[in-house]
Amino acid sequence: MKRLFASFLILIGLMGMASAGEIKSSLAPVVPKAAGEAHPEGNEFMRINHMKLMVHDRDDTVLLGDRNVKYSLKECVACHAVMGPDARPVSVKSDQHFCRTCHEFAAVKIDCFQCHNSLPDADLVKKLTMLPQKDRELAAYLKEVTE
Ligand code: HEC
Ligand code: HEC
Ligand code: HEC
Repeated sequence: MKRLFASFLILIGLMGMASAGEIKSSLAPVVPKAAGEAHPEGNEFMRINHMKLMVHDRDDTVLLGDRNVKYSLKECVACHAVMGPDARPVSVKSDQHFCRTCHEFAAVKIDCFQCHNSLPDADLVKKLTMLPQKDRELAAYLKEVTE
């Protein structure tokens, strides 16, 4: 009887999680999977704080060459590269681009890519991701651009 009660509780728990998942997936934007190591700070932290990590004083950076940021936008777009239908990484012109998935959803506009490249740098991708099996398309692309 005790065991039966325990399985009942587990079942209720699972059902609760499943329906919570359903609610979440229909309301939240679909964020594409990334390559390489996940953030030690965790996804939740990154979702909330990523914009603060990359703040730089544009005048200082552009005019004085002062690099007052420790996070790299080049690295963001490298690990978070998204492959388009032609098996090449998409630029920020595509609404599939990592930085646009949530922004579109939250109606956020950023102008970062007026100066920064939204396409991943092949060497940097290689360095940061060491090609986990996750991304065969990315591997194929790298092979193509580096050969
Ligand atoms: C070394 C590779 C790497 C770099 C560099 C990197 N990320 Fe990530 N990021 C990941 C991985 C792996 C995850 C885990 C999510 C996943 O499985 O796709 C993640 C998760 C996130 C998430 C949460 C996504 C979600 O599903 O909620 C955000 C937001 C994010 N990163 C933003 C950034 C930004 C902004 C930068 C640059 C400052 C950056 N990342 C640099 C690999 C990277
Ligand atoms: C997991 C969803 C998500 C992803 C992925 C994401 N962002 Fe954001 N970003 C947001 C949300 C939501 C806001 C608005 C937060 C607010 O208004 O408080 C935001 C705001 C920003 C802002 C501040 C905009 C402003 O006007 O203040 C910058 C800059 C930014 N994101 C950069 C990036 C870059 C660069 C990437 C890709 C490397 C990226 N974000 C990917 C969700 C995301
Ligand atoms: C007016 C041009 C300009 C704009 C707009 C701009 N940046 Fe930059 N940014 C620079 C320059 C120049 C550097 C220094 C050169 C470099 O390291 O790429 C830099 C450096 C950085 C760096 C550190 C270097 C690296 O590896 O990425 C980050 C992070 C960064 N910018 C994020 C952003 C974000 C986020 C936005 C949008 C909110 C933005 N930038 C908008 C010009 C700009």
